[in-house]
Parts: sequence; structure tokens; C-alpha cells
Amino acid sequence: MSRSAHPAGPRHADVVPEGHYAAPPADLNILDEKVWSRTVTRDADGALTVGGIEVARLAEEFGTPAYFLDEADFRARCRAWADAFGADADVYYAGKAFLSRAIVRWLREEGLNLDVCSGGELTTALDAGMPAERIAFHGNNKTVDEIERAVSAGVGRIVLDSFQEIVRVAHVAQRLGKRQRVQIRVTVGVEAHTHEFIATAHEDQKFGIALAGGLAAEAVRRALTLDGLELTGIHSHIGSQIFDMAGFEVSARRVVQLLAEVRDEHGVELSEIDLGGGLGIAYTSGDDPREPHEIAKALGDIVTRECEAASLATPRISVEPGRAIVGPTAFTLYEVGTIKPLEGLRTYVSVDGGMSDNIRTALYDAEYSVALVSRTSDAEPMLVRVVGKHCESGDIVVKDAFLPADLAPGDLIAVPATGAYCRSMASNYNHALRPPVVAVRDGEARVIVRRETEEDLLRLDVG
Ligand code: LLP
Repeated sequence: MSRSAHPAGPRHADVVPEGHYAAPPADLNILDEKVWSRTVTRDADGALTVGGIEVARLAEEFGTPAYFLDEADFRARCRAWADAFGADADVYYAGKAFLSRAIVRWLREEGLNLDVCSGGELTTALDAGMPAERIAFHGNNKTVDEIERAVSAGVGRIVLDSFQEIVRVAHVAQRLGKRQRVQIRVTVGVEAHTHEFIATAHEDQKFGIALAGGLAAEAVRRALTLDGLELTGIHSHIGSQIFDMAGFEVSARRVVQLLAEVRDEHGVELSEIDLGGGLGIAYTSGDDPREPHEIAKALGDIVTRECEAASLATPRISVEPGRAIVGPTAFTLYEVGTIKPLEGLRTYVSVDGGMSDNIRTALYDAEYSVALVSRTSDAEPMLVRVVGKHCESGDIVVKDAFLPADLAPGDLIAVPATGAYCRSMASNYNHALRPPVVAVRDGEARVIVRRETEEDLLRLDVG
């Protein structure tokens, strides 16, 4: 076919993209269920529906850009994690991935606990009725005010991140006449990323207290002497978007080793071990995440084996998945504004959002998928870069993907797997209005976080 048959842009054969899409998928109309939430499907007319509602209707009612969150999928994922880990372990949803009062209510109803890492997240959790004892409070630099609020509220656990904080939390608890349950976050010397983990160059970061050089053992020593603290366990979080369990294996082994040292030195068997979050999800067809039951089994086996080897009773395990629960449950819906074919390169498709609603591509070089969702198309695949409307050339939403060559302004396109770290990291860059989060379930859609307005911007700008 001649180039002129593809006026909207270069064909896939002209350029080799850098990302996963070395070749276009056989049929652009087929939705890869790996990257879409479970109630997403195409209706008879080819339009995408979620929770039984067509995207065109959603766009009309709620505008674009907007995040649409599949409530049934969210709840099902919560249940899958809770069931997989069972009654002898605890699942803490990591609120940093995305938190709102509706999310807190769903977590509560589905029996999950919640990890918060700021006063704002704590307030949201308490306001929406999460029982304080089901909250874990994280952060490498909690303010005294935040610590006071957490201790007063009676949070179930504070994860101590530095020597200063051990003393700070102990003082606050004592002043408030309480004994606060705490864990110590240790740096195990493993940094894990997708498909790999490295066991060097890991202590050079701000979180936790290093196992290396006996620092973590010293932290335990100090925590055990302070009246305001009840040290219950050790915490470790090794990274993000992890598929390979090898990093957790090393981490668990090293944490268990510390538990054994603590027993030998103090005669105390700490009863909890938290292995953090970081489990990966499918952003593109190339990603193959594990199911919660596989993860639970792998982690359980590792900890049990290591504890048996060290003659320790198996501690209660907890995990803190954020992305793996909320990430796959939402997509971002955009309207196509302009289409700019760059001869011999690729076609730039500009949408009505961008780095203000998804900073992950610019920040981490993250990969995403995209699909034309307001209709199907039999046109040839066209290599595109989906970009936003911000004044920055790095304002990229999807680096390399294929969309049909007959894509036109006004079409709706959706980027799946944007439930985690998109709304929660959204900004007002260029005075963009942060998009709403709309929960969809059983044919009903409701706003759980409303769209910002220009009045919101002016209200903050006190002149
Ligand atoms: N627990 C702790 C102590 C953490 O620091 C984190 C993430 C989690 C749990 C949850 O991790 P998840 O299961 O969601 O991967 N903004 C980045 C991710 C930063 C994660 C920071 N900590 C992103 O957009 O990929």
C-alpha cells in the first residue's frame, strides 16, 4: 500500500518504536484484558463500556479528561488479596497509590487495612471511618504534629524510619500516656525493579535503617529500651513494579536473620514481618504480573523456610500493595484534539490532559497502552505518541503505541491501568484542573473526587 493511503501518519513499517510495540497488534479493536479492568468490554457498536456504561455517555456526563474507576474490579482485587493472605496475615492497601473517602469505605468493607504516609492521608482514612487500629503510618520524616495525631488516634502501627524518629515517637507516646506499637523499617540491601533486582548500591537512599553495619540492630536495641514503644516487628519495602520474587526472597532472608539476632541478643521474638508493597501490574501486553495467591504462597513459603532454618516461630506477615490493587481498576479517558503526522517519525496525537494527570511517563519513562474507545476502526495501524496539552516537550502520556490511521479529532481514546499514582501525583501545571475520579458500577457512575474548577484555583490564590 502506498504512503498516500495513510494520510493520517506514518505506517508502522516506517519506524521501529522504542517501546514494547515492536509490531502492531493484529487487531487494534481487541482489548487485551490483561491491561483493562474486569468489567470493561466493547458493546455491539464497538464502543467501550465499563460497569455497563458506554464511554461516550461517561464523557458527556463527566467530561474529559477523567479517570473512570471500576468499583467491582477494585473490590474483587481487595478480596483476592485478603483471601490469598488469609487470616494469619494482613494486607495493608498503600494509600499513596490513590486515596479517597470512597476507597477507604470499600477497603473497610472488604476487610483490608490501610497504609498512610502523611497527615492528609491519615485524615482521609479517619474521616471515612477506617478504624485507627487498622492503619499503619509510614514516612521518612513524619512531623511531630503528624506523630501526635497518629498516636492520639490510636493507629495500629507506626513504621519507624530513623533514629530520631524512634525517640520522637517514644516521647510523643509517653507524653500522651500511651504505648505505641511500632515496626522498624530496615534497608535490606536489595533494590528491586521490574524483572530484576540488584543487591548493590541500595543503601544510598533516604528510607529505612540499614541492616548493614549493624545499624538496624542498634535501632532495635534503642526501641526496646523506650517505654513509649512496643516494638512488634521489622518492615522492609524493596521497590516498585516488581514481577520477580527473588528480591523478596533476599529481603525476607535478611529480615529473618535480624529477627534471629534480636532473639539471641534480647531473648525477644518479634512477632511481625512486613514485606512492603511493590508488586507489578500489566501496563502493556508485555507485562505478566502474578496473581495474589501466587504472591502470598511465594512470600509465605520464603518466610516459613527462613524461620524454620533460624528456629524461629513464623511471624505474622503483612504486605502493602498499592498499585497491584488500584492500578488496573481505572483508565483515563481523553478526547483527541490535534493530530500531527511527522513524516518518517511518528504521529503526535494531542489529548486534553497530559503530564498533569499522568506524570509517570515523564518521570519514570513508564510505558502505557492506549486504545480508540468511542468506536472501532478497520484502518491500518499508525504509530503514535500520545501527548498532552502542556507547555513542555516531555509532556508524553504514551510514548509508543498504535492507533488506527483514521483517528480524528473528537475521538475518545483511553489509557488503561492508570488507577495508581496518576490522580495521586496529579498537578496543576499550567493551571490545569485536576480531573475527576468517577466510580462506575452496575450501570451507575458517580463522582468520588470531583474535577477541580478555576474557582478552586482562584480560591487558593489569595492575592
Ligand atoms: N509500602 C511502602 C513502604 C511504600 O513505600 C510503597 C510505595 C508501597 C508500600 C506501595 O507500593 P506499590 O505496591 O504501590 O508499588 N510513584 C511511583 C511509586 C512510588 C512508590 C513509593 N512507595 C510510581 O508511580 O510508580
